[in-house]
Amino acid sequence: MVTSTLTTLPLPVFIRGKVRDVYDLGDRLLMVASDRISAFDYVLGTPVPDKGKILTQLSAWWFGQLADITPNHLISADVSRFPSELQIYREALEGRTMLVRKTDKVMIECVVRGYLAGSGWKEYQKTQSVCGVKLPAGLKESDRLPEPIFTPATKEEGGKHDENISFERMVQIVGRPLAETLRDKSLAIYNKAARVAEERGLILCDTKFEFGQLNNQVILIDEVLTPDSSRFWEKARYQPGKSQDSFDKQYVRDYLESIHWSKQPPVPELPAEVVKNTRAKYAEAFERVTGMAFRS
Ligand SMILES: Nc1ncnc2c1ncn2[C@@H]1O[C@H](COP(=O)(O)OP(=O)(O)OP(=O)(O)O)[C@@H](O)[C@H]1O
Ligand SMILES: [Mg+2]
Repeated sequence: MVTSTLTTLPLPVFIRGKVRDVYDLGDRLLMVASDRISAFDYVLGTPVPDKGKILTQLSAWWFGQLADITPNHLISADVSRFPSELQIYREALEGRTMLVRKTDKVMIECVVRGYLAGSGWKEYQKTQSVCGVKLPAGLKESDRLPEPIFTPATKEEGGKHDENISFERMVQIVGRPLAETLRDKSLAIYNKAARVAEERGLILCDTKFEFGQLNNQVILIDEVLTPDSSRFWEKARYQPGKSQDSFDKQYVRDYLESIHWSKQPPVPELPAEVVKNTRAKYAEAFERVTGMAFRS
């Protein structure tokens, strides 16, 4: 069965994530990004048309931009270059699929924050620090940090929430050399991406990277710098001291808060208006970041 929300291709399944159906091709993976949208760790009842295509094409664009900073897992996002035996699935895969190198993934979410928002802002208000990084007193919500900080989280599977951890805790989990490599790479990628965003009138508030290991090399994997993994703000409308409108699913989260969903199943459907506006936000993120029109 093949729809934009679920693919069941007759290939071995590597993992079904909340958003992606990932198939195992031996030393490579086929990552199909569906139109599923998750919020508060649940897949919502209504898909967002074209979301999977936007995420895939935006990630592929960023991998290219970052090629001078880090190797990545992307082999191709162009179905016509996929192995010939996959061509029969062309229609289902087109635009939403990456052929990537399979890696041994590091079970840490590598988060970099340049500004104070979300869980970082919550933690700062209680402790004046984020993931063990001490910050100056008196910062306001959405303030720019003196410098970008690396704030790792554990990568939990099976519906458990990821947990913010200190760098020293990360060292205990993956060892110091790998922890330092991931921190330095993450900060370098953030700095480059924030510069690119800035040229386009956007602020990269914060973002999450995943890395994998292959032949003793650490490579950037998964999706990168998309609205699902990052917060982008409009520079012209930036106003510290409050939360900012963003090109991500904050809009959907706000809707879910407004209907007082318990964040437990049953998972709500999204009204047509919310779906339409969410799709527009994802498409706008693609267009603002890449400077190209999104064509579904
Ligand atoms: N090159 C790779 N090698 C091994 N695993 C990978 C690679 N690239 C991505 N992955 C994994 O494939 C899965 C992608 O699926 P998806 O993004 O839907 O997962 P998820 O993490 O459950 O969802 P969410 O992004 O909402 O947390 C993730 O588990 C990711 O870690
Ligand atoms: Mg993911």
